Amino acid sequence: MQEEQKERRDFIGMALGATALVGIGGGLGFAAKRTWDPLPSVKAAGFTTVDLSVAKPNELIVEKWRGKPIFILKKTAEMEANDRDVVIGSDRFHISIGLCTHLGCIPAYKKDDHEFFCACHGGRFNASGINEPGLPPPSPLEIPPFKIAGTELILGEAGPEYKKMLDAGLTV
Ligand code: FES
Repeated sequence: MQEEQKERRDFIGMALGATALVGIGGGLGFAAKRTWDPLPSVKAAGFTTVDLSVAKPNELIVEKWRGKPIFILKKTAEMEANDRDVVIGSDRFHISIGLCTHLGCIPAYKKDDHEFFCACHGGRFNASGINEPGLPPPSPLEIPPFKIAGTELILGEAGPEYKKMLDAGLTV
């Protein structure tokens, strides 16, 4: 009887040990999987490349970068030049994050008026992304980090043109 009880205890002990090992193994496997998976910040650090050679004057292109809308507007010859313009050859482009600097709505581009209009509270930005004074948006549309390579716009990489704008306080 005592021998039978001892065997039973041994069996329970082994079963518990095996369960613990499976648990530890599973935990290690999970930890390893977490280590192999890219961090969310790495996933979000992607670049987006846009070919600007296909852009047409006064036609807004909206790209998505890091979950945000990016406005790309090739200016017409009549549109006022601005230090915030991205210049490629004889072409000038307005590039900005398409989120209103008031409360983050997405403004619409009004082709006929050459301005971005935010319907949420009536904010207005001109074709250079400058906010109209006296209205809710407190500052111009922000410029995303970018780099120019030939006629390609690389969003997410801070090139010399972007750093110059940043140093000049033209964006935050
Ligand atoms: S969110 Fe654009 S004006 Fe308020």
